[in-house]
Amino acid sequence: MEIDFKLKELPLVKNKLETLDFLFGNAITMSMWIADMEFEIAQPIQQALIDRVSNSGFGYEYKPDSFFEAQKEWYKEKNRIQLNKNQIVYSPSIKTTIAILIENFTGENEGVIVQPPVYMEFGDAIESRNRSLVNNALELVDNRYYINFKDLEEKAKLAQNKVLIICNPQNPIGRVWTKGELKEIVRICKQNNLLLISDEIHKDVILFDHQFTSALQFIKDYNRIVVCTSESKTFNLCSIADSMAIIPEQTIRNSITDTLKKYNLVANNALTRVALEAAYKGGHIWLAEVLKTVEENVEIIKKAIENSKIELIVPEGTYQVWLNFEKVYKNTEEMFNEITKKSGVALNAGHWYGSKGAMFMRMNIATSNEKVAKAITRIVEATEEAS
Ligand SMILES: Cc1ncc(COP(=O)(O)O)c(C=O)c1O
Repeated sequence: MEIDFKLKELPLVKNKLETLDFLFGNAITMSMWIADMEFEIAQPIQQALIDRVSNSGFGYEYKPDSFFEAQKEWYKEKNRIQLNKNQIVYSPSIKTTIAILIENFTGENEGVIVQPPVYMEFGDAIESRNRSLVNNALELVDNRYYINFKDLEEKAKLAQNKVLIICNPQNPIGRVWTKGELKEIVRICKQNNLLLISDEIHKDVILFDHQFTSALQFIKDYNRIVVCTSESKTFNLCSIADSMAIIPEQTIRNSITDTLKKYNLVANNALTRVALEAAYKGGHIWLAEVLKTVEENVEIIKKAIENSKIELIVPEGTYQVWLNFEKVYKNTEEMFNEITKKSGVALNAGHWYGSKGAMFMRMNIATSNEKVAKAITRIVEATEEAS
């Protein structure tokens, strides 16, 4: 997989010195935290962008039929989702959509259930709107995470809890929820009339023959389901891709559309449209190569930690790995400081994802085999000094 050596010249957040200093102190020489890739983007996307920029008009654009056709094909083939154009709502970002859903479908102090360790922005979106963050913590059994359905059911039954946000595949712990697990989630939501938001941004990064199932597969059983998705992670387009919500139920769809219109968040970005259409049509081979490299990187990590006290939660999806340091360090502060200072590798601290992540770190492995090998060797060496 080609690594993009020009990345260093770009103003990427992951390399911004002030941010690195603020979060990690000044010891960082390898940045493996924020979730974007270091691979050169797919050739068809590059070419399509060059062609579009050369054709210099940037008047107001709409999404032509060719875009929808390409998108429909991708979702059918890759994600087993039958897209219906009328059910799609485009939004600048998934965070925007989730914020709107929380505002429109809960009142002050009402509860939104999440399943930590999970993408921390869910919690921020909930608490910054004076809603109650309700944790249905995942359970770790033999190095694999599971949903605590009993706890979920108890929390779902409480009248003040109105929404459940799931993440599939789950960032940061890498589970791809099975059809059986999703069926149970939908059953509980239906029984308790919870709005189910399924964040499926990592849907295309499925590893080791696991199978992705979208929550949309259950829409006939229960229609209060919103799927939030995008290809920003899939194709490393985080700073140009927008997102979409798939909302079969009309009143929910209208509610989001009205708010997006109210704040004029509905403009089309020509470069996003062009990049995504090219990706849907010509991104398959590139993505297969990315997945192969990510799987190789998981194997590299497995091997490197074999004789250490670090444990790996093997990811089923996403290009992150979740590393368990509880057998190495006494507490979060020691773990974070020691690893950061001694290895020089910037990783996401597990407690950013909730207190259950306190003794974990998340490592971004969407990069070369060589870089992953070097980073994990340094991390293992740092932990050896601790033992
Ligand atoms: C689960 C999840 N949802 C959403 C996002 C961000 O998506 P957006 O930029 O469209 O808000 C991320 C980014 O890391 C993510 O991991």
